[in-house]
Amino acid sequence: MPISHLVERFGTPTYVYDESKILDCVGDLRRFDVIRYAQKACSNIAILDLMRRHGVLVDAVSAGEIHRALTAGYTAGSQPPAIVYTADIFDHDAIRLVVEYGLHVNVGSPDMIDQLGEVAPGTNITLRINPGFGHGHSQKTNTGGEHSKHGIWHTQLEECLRRADHHGLGVTGLHMHIGSGCDLEHLAQVCAAMENAAMTAGRGVVSISAGGGLPIPYRPGETRVGLDGYFQLWDATRQRLENAFGHAVTLEIEPGRYLVAESGYLLAEIRAVKQTGDNLFYLLDAGFNNLARPILYGAYHPMSVAPRDGDARRRLQDVVVGGPLCESGDIFTQEEGGYVVRRQLPAATVGDWLVIECAGAYGFVMSSNYNAKPLAAEVLVRQGAANLIRARQTYADLMRGECIPE
Ligand SMILES: Cc1ncc(COP(=O)(O)O)c(C=O)c1O
Repeated sequence: MPISHLVERFGTPTYVYDESKILDCVGDLRRFDVIRYAQKACSNIAILDLMRRHGVLVDAVSAGEIHRALTAGYTAGSQPPAIVYTADIFDHDAIRLVVEYGLHVNVGSPDMIDQLGEVAPGTNITLRINPGFGHGHSQKTNTGGEHSKHGIWHTQLEECLRRADHHGLGVTGLHMHIGSGCDLEHLAQVCAAMENAAMTAGRGVVSISAGGGLPIPYRPGETRVGLDGYFQLWDATRQRLENAFGHAVTLEIEPGRYLVAESGYLLAEIRAVKQTGDNLFYLLDAGFNNLARPILYGAYHPMSVAPRDGDARRRLQDVVVGGPLCESGDIFTQEEGGYVVRRQLPAATVGDWLVIECAGAYGFVMSSNYNAKPLAAEVLVRQGAANLIRARQTYADLMRGECIPE
């Protein structure tokens, strides 16, 4: 779809998601018994509705994500549970909703067992285990090992099983998620850790979850991971557990990034082209208020220039791409540690558009109103038609709820 059409209708900055790409990625994972979408990656209710209609279940990490899942039509009470609350704490809203809707909980801290046991004795839970190691595309997305706050430490599993038993909670499954954007080598190590943990937990285990973490190619030359070997490893683990327990064990996977990252584009307009010393800057109307991954992790996103005049033969030049915010770190071409780097992009002038690609995961959901910038619009392209799935925030929205005391 021509960018000029999208910009004319929706303005910039705008997130655009390609539905067919999401469905292709869902298709890649069909061999797992359950695909559970980690909606933290992109939680617009239109995306959740799409997942639901294609048989993908959902994970929620907060009361807000539970509300989103319910609004998108997921219902509680089914088996396997359509909504699973996975977190390291219950805040008051979350535990209230879990009890009200009878939601399944994947417990990430021993305290949660006592808290749930007090208000919902007799229910079934799964335990998220921190296997003692982790990995991620950045240290900030590593969710395993002793520096991670996530999950029940692996040596405390037996104590947690006793706690659950004390409250009459049934431990029906185990879950391990060691980080986001992992390599397959680390992900593969989780199978052995899962098998050990499941043998400790015993025959009550009827489901295992491989968590998320599947990487996608962001940089030129990176290729998609081959999922055959990964599935086979998990399937073999599942089969050994089935043999040991004498009953079926459901195999879940819980990706966020893999399902949505490549479907998403952030459209922005170039509003200034300026030289400072040796650096030529393209300054956009989108900043880290719209896409925080570069400033947070030094994350690399592919970018392309869409010239307003359609000229596809512009010469390439080295540029730094930044945003509008009053903050030096508001740079899309930076490496971890905040080092500004240059990117080869076509020559551009004010009014041309710049598209930041692979922005569907951990993009819009990490937006902020910093510098009083309204949140961007979101658009879903379905069968060639562009549908607005979130209106751009208005300036009235920006101040909603604020008041000046008498
Ligand atoms: C519990 C849990 N499951 C799944 C995910 C999804 O991870 P990813 O988007 O890397 O697949 C996360 C994110 O870190 C998570 O914390």
